[in-house]
Amino acid sequence: MRHLISIADLERQDIERILERADSFAEVSGRSIKKVPVLRGRTVVNLFYESSTRTSSSFELAAKRLSADLLNVKTLGSAVDKGESLKDTVRTLSAYDPALVVIRSPWAGAAELVARWTPAAVVNAGDGKREHPTQALLDLYTLRQRVGALDGLKVWIVGDVLHSRVARSNVLAFGRMGCEVTVAGPPTLVPREIESLGCRVRASLDELADADVVYALRMQRERMEGAFVPSLREYAARYQIDGRRLRPHQILMHPGPVNRGVELSAEVIDSPQALIAQQVESGVVVRMAVLYELLASGGEEEATYGTGFTEEMPEPALAEVAGRPE
Ligand code: NCD
Repeated sequence: MRHLISIADLERQDIERILERADSFAEVSGRSIKKVPVLRGRTVVNLFYESSTRTSSSFELAAKRLSADLLNVKTLGSAVDKGESLKDTVRTLSAYDPALVVIRSPWAGAAELVARWTPAAVVNAGDGKREHPTQALLDLYTLRQRVGALDGLKVWIVGDVLHSRVARSNVLAFGRMGCEVTVAGPPTLVPREIESLGCRVRASLDELADADVVYALRMQRERMEGAFVPSLREYAARYQIDGRRLRPHQILMHPGPVNRGVELSAEVIDSPQALIAQQVESGVVVRMAVLYELLASGGEEEATYGTGFTEEMPEPALAEVAGRPE
């Protein structure tokens, strides 16, 4: 695997491998010295054209815990011509010979373009409303830790599906793992084409009691031009997940940031049914696993990494390598 642009790039077995790798890194994260030398001497660029708390900080920690050199480039607010400026920026940063570029951008398709403009591996950390594959992977990881096997699980993704890259990646990812996925929300915010990704569509929460997992989405107001719902109050009345709608057997997930009182009520956010804090925690080990997958686990990169990595640090001995903090 050269890049991670979309969940569609991954077969189920690829996902399983990444989640297992994340598990092995969870052990490292539990130590007081949370560092392994897997990416020593390699450069990771975090290129963020949009605000981010969880995604950028967890990619940063992931790269550092693998001993990579990290360059954080935040270009929020840049108003120059977008296609050109992105290309120029990527070409400029490529002069530092990064092994991998993490890109978040408001433009759908940006990660694919970056992959054309740099010889580095590219990870899509959110491209407009299209995809956010590492979020979906960390969601699978978190859910699997709570419930074990995901096959046959009924997952409802609720809210502003239209503007959500998380929704698109998660419909694909949950589907790959054998879940039955339903998306629900106001018809103005749930495009019917989403069914082609392998899910059912519902305009109300009448059948929500069927769900094993309720995955709530934020109203992505920054991507809305015009009004998609009469008001947030009316949206909340019909679609908010609150203590009445969330049944005791159901698990609640949300990618963050949460708008308290809009898509979720305070009582459910703080309930033991919510995995929201665990999702954030999983972000680091899953992103470590993705960096490892692209840079250290084989494929064309191994040729250059081979002498250092495969001889001195064979892949099966990861646990042992992990035992030698720098
Ligand atoms: C999401 C994003 O930015 O796509 N957040 C995240 O990465 N944790 C979802 C959102 O902003 O609502």
